[in-house]
Amino acid sequence: MYDLGWIRQSLGSDWKAFENILKDALDSPYSLLSSIDSYLLNKPGKQLRPALALCSARICGTPGPLSHAVAAVAEMIHTASLLHDDVADNADTRRGTPSVHKQYGPRASILIGDYWFARAFQTLLQYEGKHLVPLYAAVIRDLSEGEMLQLEKSRTLDISFRDYYMICKNKTASLFSASMVSGALSVTDQEVAAALRPIFEKAAYHMGMAFQIRDDMMDYQPALNSGKPYYKDIAESNITLPLLGALCNAGFKDNYPSVKAWIRRLEQRESQGLDQIVDFVERYNGLEFAARVLHHHQTKAREQLSLLPPSPWQEALLKIAGM
Ligand code: FPP
Ligand code: MG
Repeated sequence: MYDLGWIRQSLGSDWKAFENILKDALDSPYSLLSSIDSYLLNKPGKQLRPALALCSARICGTPGPLSHAVAAVAEMIHTASLLHDDVADNADTRRGTPSVHKQYGPRASILIGDYWFARAFQTLLQYEGKHLVPLYAAVIRDLSEGEMLQLEKSRTLDISFRDYYMICKNKTASLFSASMVSGALSVTDQEVAAALRPIFEKAAYHMGMAFQIRDDMMDYQPALNSGKPYYKDIAESNITLPLLGALCNAGFKDNYPSVKAWIRRLEQRESQGLDQIVDFVERYNGLEFAARVLHHHQTKAREQLSLLPPSPWQEALLKIAGM
């Protein structure tokens, strides 16, 4: 799932130019910094956001240096947020190998995150992307607000569907949107990009929501062998869509007190709490509920993307939206 090798191949020289900017931006004379940078660059992940940016640029015209730069900026901000997230979540692994947090310690993970974050903005300025600074500043705000709301809800355990969707929008859809919009606005023909911007925004919103919902579903699907640790969200007291869906099917009023009590047991390291939650999600079809919401966002994303001018890059985005 989400193997984007085929897009990287078709983007050819644009992809190479993005990789070069990313590598150059992270070149540092300090050995700890450069060894962590190499550690990260050697396990690059899906690099979905740069693919979104470059496909959007191609849809709007001919990608130039700013297009390659925004692809790198999106990836740097994403990686910076994960470096911080792994400290917040105390995550041992990332992308199937020990996280920077585990390998080099939390101080290094936070500092490298800060560094990538700063280099992202410098790269934007260096490639004449001053007009895109407000867009990316808003993303950092959204990411932080999304994480804060998630933290608050994990403490109170009082979360509504509306809260959950807001968290997904802020922590995931927001950067999807900035990647596509900045990719579009990075080409010289600003008129086409400006006209298509609302379509990119709506499509990215639904793609981001679908992406986060799928990620949250996978946390309840150990049988998928995705390589990611599972039952991590609930272990951090994060109530996500499969559990909310099960609660909705079972009846919120009658069942929320028991669900909260099970999470509190889990917080006390009583594994029975986890068994009860997993059993509840299964009994009340929480994953099926989440799958229906996922399908809704995938359909809406495809509807929006179909409004873009037909091209191989529109098709590539349609393919990603269906993954
Ligand atoms: C992963 O979610 C986390 C995010 C998508 C956003 C994290 C954002 C911050 C920590 C705010 C700070 C941002 C910057 C740029 C300094 P997840 O924990 O659900 O996914 P996972 O299972 O992959 O960890
Ligand atoms: Mg995490």
